[in-house]
Amino acid sequence: PRYSRILGTGSFLPADRVTNQALADRLAATGIETSDDWIVERTGIRARHFAAPDQASSDLAYPAALAALEAAGIQADELDLIIVATSTPDMVFPSTACLLQKKLGAFGCAAFDVQAVCAGFVYALSVADSMIKSGAASKALVVGAEVFSRILDFKDRTTCVLFGDGAGAVVLGASDTPGILATELHADARHTDILCTPGTVSGGQVLGSPLLRMDGQAVFKLAVGVLDKVARSVLDKAGLTDADIDWLIPHQANIRIMQGTAKKLRMPLDKLIVTVDEHGNTSAASVPLALDVAVRSGRVKRGDTVMLEGVGGGFTWGAALLNY
Ligand code: ACO
Repeated sequence: PRYSRILGTGSFLPADRVTNQALADRLAATGIETSDDWIVERTGIRARHFAAPDQASSDLAYPAALAALEAAGIQADELDLIIVATSTPDMVFPSTACLLQKKLGAFGCAAFDVQAVCAGFVYALSVADSMIKSGAASKALVVGAEVFSRILDFKDRTTCVLFGDGAGAVVLGASDTPGILATELHADARHTDILCTPGTVSGGQVLGSPLLRMDGQAVFKLAVGVLDKVARSVLDKAGLTDADIDWLIPHQANIRIMQGTAKKLRMPLDKLIVTVDEHGNTSAASVPLALDVAVRSGRVKRGDTVMLEGVGGGFTWGAALLNY
């Protein structure tokens, strides 16, 4: 049998680190009131990074990809697949994956984007895993890259304090032994309205709002339930139980959702990888960013069983269980 395995990870954050206090000061200048205390208590976020005006998703994806390639010991021209998960692409088209391929200077391999908002990386990883298992690819670069700062409404304090920019990447390679153990993806489009950026481009103009809006409480309620269910389902598929999980790496949106999920999986909180405090919610980038931080800090080691979980607009969600 043919499996896929993560060969290396990488990530990149733009230089501008904005603390809650700095953000509160910026917002106060426009009459919007918020505080470090409110943001920390409700979300666990202490700071986020914002891209410079000339930095697009592919610019963040590129250094993350180089770091993952280096960690994997792979040259870019050995890749036969590039998938970028993003909801903030550089352009309408070409895809951010094609723009990343151009930056990497390794031409010819398949390249496309996956759009599943904050579940995007888990979606992209699952697609790459399937393509490797089927023989359609052997070495895949899978990236989550976002510049959500571009679609934030800085007049809406209920959303603009939650998100940040960044990118995370993995190189996935064909393997004789199982790396990715099981994946599962879902969407429920009855809930398109609770988290969306509904605008589009038409006739040279933006039609509808190009800014993110969210019903935070509705998202919160849905997220904890679906994440527990999908995690149990992938454990079943792999023939494992919650006691077998060494590390839980959920989408980094809100510490309370993450701790709620860990509790339902009966996991001690020191097995929960947390980067939301320093990154905010980076949408499709959050899971690979957290994975890379966990690998480079020496927590996630070769042979560990790791549960990745994504959840986001659509409503979309999914999980990937892997032997790192
Ligand atoms: N600063 C200060 N006060 C604020 C702020 C702010 N930034 N934002 C809201 N408030 C106020 C509200 O106006 C409200 O005041 P009121 O009681 O006088 O009306 C009060 O704080 C409470 O607001 P709630 O919306 O009830 O706060 P809640 O405890 O639900 O927390 C939050 C809001 C953090 C958004 C929470 O609902 C949440 O985390 N939801 C999940 C969001 C999420 O995870 N989204 C991402 C998943 S998918 C994706 O990543 C794209």
